[in-house]
Amino acid sequence: MKFISCQNVSEMLFQCEIEPCSFKFSVGYNDCLILEARITILKECGAVPETVSISACKSDRLRTSFDCVRREDMAKLASKTAIITGAGSGIGKAIAMTFSENGANVVVADVNLEAAEKTAYQINDNGRRGLAVGTDVTKKDQVLEMAEQCLRQFGTIEILVNNAGVMSPPTPMEDLPEEYWDRVVEINLKGTFLCSQVVGKEMIKAKKGCIVNMASMCGHGPYPECGAYSATKGAILSFTQQLAIEWAEYNIRVNSISPGTILTPLNENVYADREIYEGRSKLIPLHRPGYPQDIANAALFLASEDSSYITGTDILVDGGLLKIAQQMLPGRAGAKER
Ligand SMILES: NC(=O)c1ccc[n+]([C@@H]2O[C@H](COP(=O)([O-])OP(=O)(O)OC[C@H]3O[C@@H](n4cnc5c(N)ncnc54)[C@H](O)[C@@H]3O)[C@@H](O)[C@H]2O)c1
Repeated sequence: MKFISCQNVSEMLFQCEIEPCSFKFSVGYNDCLILEARITILKECGAVPETVSISACKSDRLRTSFDCVRREDMAKLASKTAIITGAGSGIGKAIAMTFSENGANVVVADVNLEAAEKTAYQINDNGRRGLAVGTDVTKKDQVLEMAEQCLRQFGTIEILVNNAGVMSPPTPMEDLPEEYWDRVVEINLKGTFLCSQVVGKEMIKAKKGCIVNMASMCGHGPYPECGAYSATKGAILSFTQQLAIEWAEYNIRVNSISPGTILTPLNENVYADREIYEGRSKLIPLHRPGYPQDIANAALFLASEDSSYITGTDILVDGGLLKIAQQMLPGRAGAKER
C-alpha cells in the first residue's frame, strides 16, 4: 500500500509515474468522493500489465490514497504462508519457487539444511520471503520446531506440502532388508502424518488451510523391486482421503499429486543413460519425461482458490503413462468376425 497526497487524478498519476488505461468513477456516501480506477501500470511492470485500484476521499482537502495492488498481491497465493517439506531439491524446490513467485511466504523444510538454505536464498534473492528450516520429517520435535519457526516468522500457516520422500535401492521383496522398509515408511508415510498432524492443528484453530501430499503413479500401479515405496504412496492416497473427510468441517482441503516419471536428483542416474531416456520418452504418450515444474503447476492449482471446491482427490501428472497398458496388449478385442 502506497499513500500519496495530490490535488487531482492527473497529478496523482504523474506522481506515481503511471499511465492511465481506463477509469471507472463513482460517487460515494457523505462528502466523500470515492474514485475507483483500474489502470495498467506500464512503467512499473514493463510488459506484464498489472491493475491497481485507486480510491480518493474528498473532505476538507482532497486526500487521495493510492492502493497499489502489486503483481504479488494479485498472484494466486498472495500473502499466504506455505511450508514445503523436502524443498531443498527437485520437485519440492520447484514448488517452493513457484509458490514464492505467486506471492507466498515459503518455509523451505529439508533434512539437508544446506540445500534448504540454497532454495531459501534463491527465493529471497528474487525479492520474496523464504525461510530455511532444517527438518527431519520423521522426528516430531523437529516438525514442531518447523511449525513454530514458521509461525514466529510469518504468523500463519495456510498451506502445507508434504513432499519429502525417498526410495530404496532396487531389491526384490523377498530380499528386502527390514531397514530399507522402515526408512521408506518412516519418511514417506509417517513424515506425512506427523507434518499433517502438527500443522493441521494450527489450521484447525484458524479454520482454514490446504494440504497437498506427494503420492506417486507407483501408488496407483506398483513399480517392481521398489520395496515399500509403492505401498507408502498407495497409503498416502488413502491418507489424503481420510484427512479430507475428517477436516472438511474445519475448511481444510486435502489433496494429493501423483507424479509420473519426473527428472529430478531422485532418478537422474537412470535418465543419464541415453537409451533409457529415449526408450521412456517413446513409451510415454506425451513423449517426454516430466519436469519438476509440471508438478509445481499442479501444486499451485491445488493450493490456490482455483481448486476451492476440490478435496480428497488426486491429480495424476504422468504424461498419460499409466493409461497405456491396453495399448501394449497383443490382439484386439472385437476383431473376430461374427
Ligand atoms: N522424481 C520422480 O520421478 C517422482 C515420481 C513420483 C513421486 N515423486 C515424489 O516426489 C517427492 C519429491 O521427489 P524428488 O524427485 O524431488 O526427490 P529429491 O530426492 O530430488 O528430493 C527429495 C528431498 O527430500 C528431502 N528429504 C529426504 N528425507 C527427508 C526427511 N526425512 N525429512 C525432510 N526432508 C527429507 C531430501 O533432502 C531432498 O531434498 C517425493 O515424495 C517422491 O516420492 C517423485
